[in-house]
Amino acid sequence: MHDPAVLRSSHLTRFGEEPAIFAAPGRVNIIGEHTDYAEGFVMPAAIDFATLAAISPRGDGKIVLYAENYGEERSYEVSALPQSRTNDWSDYPLGVLSILSSEGHAIPAFSLSLWGDVPLGSGLSSSAALEVATALAVTSLIAVSYPGPVLARLCQRAENEFVGASCGIMDQFISANGAKDHALLLDCRDLSYRLVPIPEDVALIIANTMVKHAVTGGEYTSRRAEVEAAAAVIARHRPEVRFLRDATTEDLERWGSEMTPNSLKRARHVITENLRTVAAADALARNDRREVGRLMAEAHRSYSQDFEASCTEADAMVALAQDLPGLIGARLTGGGFGGCTVNLVEMSHGEEFAHALGKRYAAQTGIAPQIHICHASGGAHRL
Ligand code: GLA
Repeated sequence: MHDPAVLRSSHLTRFGEEPAIFAAPGRVNIIGEHTDYAEGFVMPAAIDFATLAAISPRGDGKIVLYAENYGEERSYEVSALPQSRTNDWSDYPLGVLSILSSEGHAIPAFSLSLWGDVPLGSGLSSSAALEVATALAVTSLIAVSYPGPVLARLCQRAENEFVGASCGIMDQFISANGAKDHALLLDCRDLSYRLVPIPEDVALIIANTMVKHAVTGGEYTSRRAEVEAAAAVIARHRPEVRFLRDATTEDLERWGSEMTPNSLKRARHVITENLRTVAAADALARNDRREVGRLMAEAHRSYSQDFEASCTEADAMVALAQDLPGLIGARLTGGGFGGCTVNLVEMSHGEEFAHALGKRYAAQTGIAPQIHICHASGGAHRL
C-alpha cells in the first residue's frame, strides 16, 4: 500500500499544515450479490487496497480538495458549496459534506488531500472507500465520532442522494467495519453482523477482467427496479413481504406468472442468493471448503444466467479458474457487468494460480488482466 508518509509530506508541502491521515479500504464480496437493497445478506471482506485522506484546518473560509491520483485541485467557499453533482471525482467528498451538513453539522474550512489504490470501476468499491475516508477525516476535524454502521449509512446516503447512484449499504458498511482476516456476514435489514474467519491458508485472489462497470450505469438501476417489482407482486398476496428478503421460492412458484419474465428471473437469483450467502458463511466457519466452492459456483451461475449481470469476459475468468490447482471457489464479484472475479485459493498454490489464470485469460480474450493476491484487512481507521 501507498506509504502514508508520502501523502503527509505532499499535503504539508501543498497546504503548509500538518495533516491527520485516515484510511478506508475497498472490498471484495465473497457471496451475496444484489441482495443488500432487498434487505438480504452479503458476505464481503475489506481488502488491502484503500483510499487515504489527509486533512488539516484552514483559516480562509475555503474547502480545498486535492486528488493526488489525478493531480487535480478543487476549491470552494464553505458558504457556497455545490448542492448537486457535477460528474466529477469531487462529487464523492462533496456528497459526504452535503449529508453531514443535512445532519446539522457546521462544515468548517479545510484542506483535504486524497490518494487511493483501489482500482476504479472494477467492482472493488473505490467510491465507498473515498466516501468513508472523507467522512472519517471530516468528522474527526469537527470532533464528531459516529459508530461504524452509522458512518456507513451516511456515506451510502451521500452516494444515493448526491452522487445519484442507487447502491445498497454493503460497500460503505464493509469499508467502515471490516476486520482483518475475516469476512463479514451482514444482515442488511438491521445491520447486525457476524465475523467469519478466513482460514490462514486461504488466499483471496482478485482477477480484474479489465471490463469497466459503473453503479451509476443504467443496468444496475434497472436490475434493482426488476427486483423491487417482483417484491411488489408478492406483496399483493402477502402484504408482509416488503422486500425479497421475506420471499421464498414457493412465492415465485405461486405468483411468478404475474411478474415479467425478467423480474421473475431476477427474483429467483435474489431469493436463492440469500440462502446461499448464509449457507456459505456457515460452511466457511466450519472450514468446509468443498461446500464454499459449490455455493460460489452456484452463485455465479445464478448471477450470470438468472440475474444476467455477468459478461463474456467474467464468465471466461470464472471458467478458466475451475481446474487450476488450489481453487476452492470462484465467481464474479460486485455490481456486475464487468469488474473482477473473486477466487478463494489454497495459499500454497496462490502465486502459481494467479500466474496461470492470467495467462489463460490473456490467451482466450486478448486482454491482459490484473491479478491481485489480497488479504482481508481491517476497516477504516486513523493512521
Ligand atoms: C454495488 C453496490 C452494492 C451492491 C452490489 C451488488 O457494489 O454499491 O450496494 O448492491 O453492487 O451486490
